[in-house]
Parts: sequence; C-alpha cells; structure tokens
Amino acid sequence: MPELHVVKHPLVQHKLTLMRERDRPVHEFRQLVNEIGMLLAYEVTRDLALEDVPIETPLAPMLAPKLAGKKLVFAPILRAGVGFVDGMLALVPAARVAHIGLYRDPQSLQAVEYYFKAPPDVAERLVIVLDPMLATANSAVAAVDRLKERGCRDIRMVCLLAAPEGVAHFHGTHPEVPIWTAAIDTRLDEHGYILPGLGDAGDRMFGTR
Ligand code: PRP
Ligand code: URA
Repeated sequence: MPELHVVKHPLVQHKLTLMRERDRPVHEFRQLVNEIGMLLAYEVTRDLALEDVPIETPLAPMLAPKLAGKKLVFAPILRAGVGFVDGMLALVPAARVAHIGLYRDPQSLQAVEYYFKAPPDVAERLVIVLDPMLATANSAVAAVDRLKERGCRDIRMVCLLAAPEGVAHFHGTHPEVPIWTAAIDTRLDEHGYILPGLGDAGDRMFGTR
C-alpha cells in the first residue's frame, strides 16, 4: 500500500488555516510557509535511522544516538517549493539542495521543465521533494521521474495541500514514494486548482499577482 501521512499537528493545522485566508499579506504567507516547512521537516524525518556512538559529556563517557542513515537532499520544485527550504535547512543544516524548475502549462496542465541542478551524489542520498501544492500531481510526478533518471531510489514527497486526484495520480505512478501532507482537500476545479485550497501558492508567496 502506498504511504500517505496527513500531519494533524495542531500548530501545522493552525498555520495552514492562516495561509488559506484570502487577505493574508504576502510577508505573513511566506513566513507561515517557512514555519510549516520546519514542522513538516520534523515529521518527514521522524523514522531516520540512528546509531549509538561513544562520546564524552563533561561528566562521563556514554553511548549516545546520532543519525546513521543516508544523508539528505531537499529538492524544491520551483517556485513555491523554495518556501519550504529555509525551514527544513534550519533543522537539517547539513542537507544539500536540488532545484527542480517546473511550471504547469495553464492549458494542458502538463509540467514543463526549465531547470534541474542536483548534487553529484544525489543518487546515494535520501531525497525529499518539496512542493506546497499537489494538484493534478503532474509536477510532482515529473520531478520524481527526473530524480529516478538520475538514479535516486529513496525518495519522499512533502506538500502542504493535496487534491485526491493528485494523490491517486502520484501513487498510481510512483507507489513506493510516501507522501506527507497537512491536508487533503475536496477536489480540483476546472482550471486544476485545489478546492477549497489556498489559491496560487507561488503568486501568494512572492506577491506576483
Ligand atoms: C504550482 C505549484 C506546483 C504545481 C502543482 O506551480 O507550486 O508546482 O503548480 O500543480 P500540479 O500538481 O497540477 O502539477 P506553478 O506551475 O504554478 O509554478 P510556479 O510555482 O512557478 O508558480
Ligand atoms: N498550483 C497552485 O499554486 N495552487 C493550486 O491550487 C494548484 C496548483
């Protein structure tokens, strides 16, 4: 069964509600994406492997847990995924960042790639794809296709809002890639926007409309 995690943490839910509000100013919207990014980073890394290593506290030697598994790459889908990066890096400062430039053609709703830059060892890392909106999922599917072409096998998807249609499409294509989202909304409208949603995430984050 494909994994779908809906993050019900009260702080995430509260901040998401603030973001949905139509009159929320751009700078507050951006700040909220950043804060939720940090909280979602906590959730998506919850099961990372640990190993006990010997250390010395000021008082005594001990065995204490440190991260043991693969190193991380955060892979934001431009533009809106960028909003999650600072919050996530605040928790995992040693992570690398892969930028995936995709836009959604407004007529066909197909993803069009315009940029891709990943660390050379991306295939050996755990890759966490970031995009606040999983609508048709064409963008997320294209991003994961591209990462798989580069050899990545350990991939997770983090979004803020998902449409049921997008979850079905994404897991129909990449069933082994787990999704973390703060909410699954009702449906897509005739333009492929999530309802009730929060509008256009990139425009609201960067003040471009
Ligand atoms: C938005 C959003 C996702 C995509 C989701 O980006 O940030 O990347 O749409 O839609 P989908 O699931 O139907 O593919 P957009 O294409 O508007 O580009 P932008 O971030 O540059 O505004
Ligand atoms: N992209 C957005 O920014 N919002 C949506 O609702 C759908 C796609």
